[in-house]
Amino acid sequence: MLLHAYLSLFLVLVFQGAWAFSDFSKACMKIILSNAPGGDIRVSAKCLNRSASLVETSIGLNSCLGNDNGALVPGKSFSQSCGNCDARADGVLACECKNRDNETRFTLIKLDNVIGNIDGRLSC
Ligand SMILES: *[C@@H]1O[C@H](CO)[C@@H](O)[C@H](O)[C@H]1NC(C)=O
Ligand SMILES: *[C@@H]1O[C@H](CO)[C@@H](O)[C@H](O)[C@H]1NC(C)=O
Repeated sequence: MLLHAYLSLFLVLVFQGAWAFSDFSKACMKIILSNAPGGDIRVSAKCLNRSASLVETSIGLNSCLGNDNGALVPGKSFSQSCGNCDARADGVLACECKNRDNETRFTLIKLDNVIGNIDGRLSC
């Protein structure tokens, strides 16, 4: 499968309200995942800062997610070797990533394991 073919797929997901299980998802709402240049995925949300105000913030997953031999892991530049991503309402991102033998592998990661909220700013 050609990487650029699945990078061109359009992906938009809107989560109404907070996810139940973690820090970033507890402290943020209106979480939206959208396609960004280079196959990156941008996570946008409104997150609580220290004064309990909701602040608009976003982050590109290429600065948070990597590909370790076909598995999504905390790291960098996942989109160079992953694509065909989908996000689930429980906050899990699923993608197809190439392993070191150039085979496509299905892989999942909980976004809360890689993204946090620091004073109203998404970070990793
Ligand atoms: C990996 O596979 C793609 C197409 O499936 C091919 O274009 C590319 O050259 C391959 N890369 C390596 C390192 O084998
Ligand atoms: C939190 O966000 C509000 C609204 O943008 C801002 O007025 C306030 O100064 C922020 N608080 C902190 C601690 O940054």
